[in-house]
Amino acid sequence: MKKNILIVPGDGIGQEVTEVGKKVLIKIAEKFGHEFTYDEALMGHVAIEATGNPLPDETLEKMRASDAILFGAVGHPKYDNDPTAKVRPEQGLLKMRKELGLYANLRPIKLFDELLGASSIKPEILKGSDILFFRELTGDIYFGEKGRKNDGDTAYDIAEYSRYEVERIARKAFEAARTRGKKLCSVDKANVLETSRLWREVVQALAPEYPDITVEHQFVDSAAMMLIKDPRRFDVVVTANLFGDILTDEASQIAGSMGMLASASVGDSTGVYEPIHGSGHDITGMGVANPMASVLSAALLLDISFGLKAESDAIISAIDQVLKAGFRTRDIADSTTAPEFILGTDAIGEEILKRI
Ligand code: IPM
Ligand code: MN
Repeated sequence: MKKNILIVPGDGIGQEVTEVGKKVLIKIAEKFGHEFTYDEALMGHVAIEATGNPLPDETLEKMRASDAILFGAVGHPKYDNDPTAKVRPEQGLLKMRKELGLYANLRPIKLFDELLGASSIKPEILKGSDILFFRELTGDIYFGEKGRKNDGDTAYDIAEYSRYEVERIARKAFEAARTRGKKLCSVDKANVLETSRLWREVVQALAPEYPDITVEHQFVDSAAMMLIKDPRRFDVVVTANLFGDILTDEASQIAGSMGMLASASVGDSTGVYEPIHGSGHDITGMGVANPMASVLSAALLLDISFGLKAESDAIISAIDQVLKAGFRTRDIADSTTAPEFILGTDAIGEEILKRI
């Protein structure tokens, strides 16, 4: 298969982990006889430094021209503590999502057996958890009108959803549930929010088209609680942009670490595959970041954008074997891990490559 992959490492540890993700793609192409070509583009803080724009037009053009995008992370602490900054790395991310029509963000939460002990949740509660989140990614309070009034003393962010926007993400979630445990949990705040009442109405109206799927509706506060109380009760979860942002960070603890979670953002055009962790400036340059989320993002890319399931499985199995061999990065090590088994970003990357 001939494909053209755009690598967008972004900021901080995004650069370190994406390097490993790319090496894995190169290895897969070699093993399975594919012809992948790579291009690279700037986004986030590095793009602001170079061009003044977090998502330069050149990057966007390259994105549109590629078959899939392996993405790192964007962000820099200098903006986090400066709420007055007018240009911010995250604007690039949001613009990319909107411009590429990436309305469906898939975040699979799957626990590798070897990491049962790495979570702060009890192993007997976690064992067997396997959740697929569908977070709506181009609407909600993220993209509504926002601003200040009363001389800047009052601020507002408007949350907005159209029937069409809810329906297209809900359909994706229903369809995914069909290929899995046939359970769909729709999370909203319909007891308070009008957008959530529309959300629930739309999901309820679709349900008869999917009679094989058991649908439940949960309020987001209760879902947040149930996620750590009894994660196994969830199969596919579909929710709005902001709720999905928060719930998936919480759910990452089911997988032991944010460093293990990949995501796919898909919709109208090129798919973007990225770790759910951020730019990790506290550990940038130390060579300790866990590259597995990037490697698993590469696996999702092969599976979802290219339909290369065997190749994707080969990657997941290599990670499984590395974990079984006892190797860990710092974030997933525990008191039983011998110091010589705690590897840095590149070294654990080499262990993964060896096993593909
Ligand atoms: C994510 C991130 C982004 C979001 C930030 C960096 C804008 O937290 O992808 O989950 O809130 O969507
Ligand atoms: Mn987030």
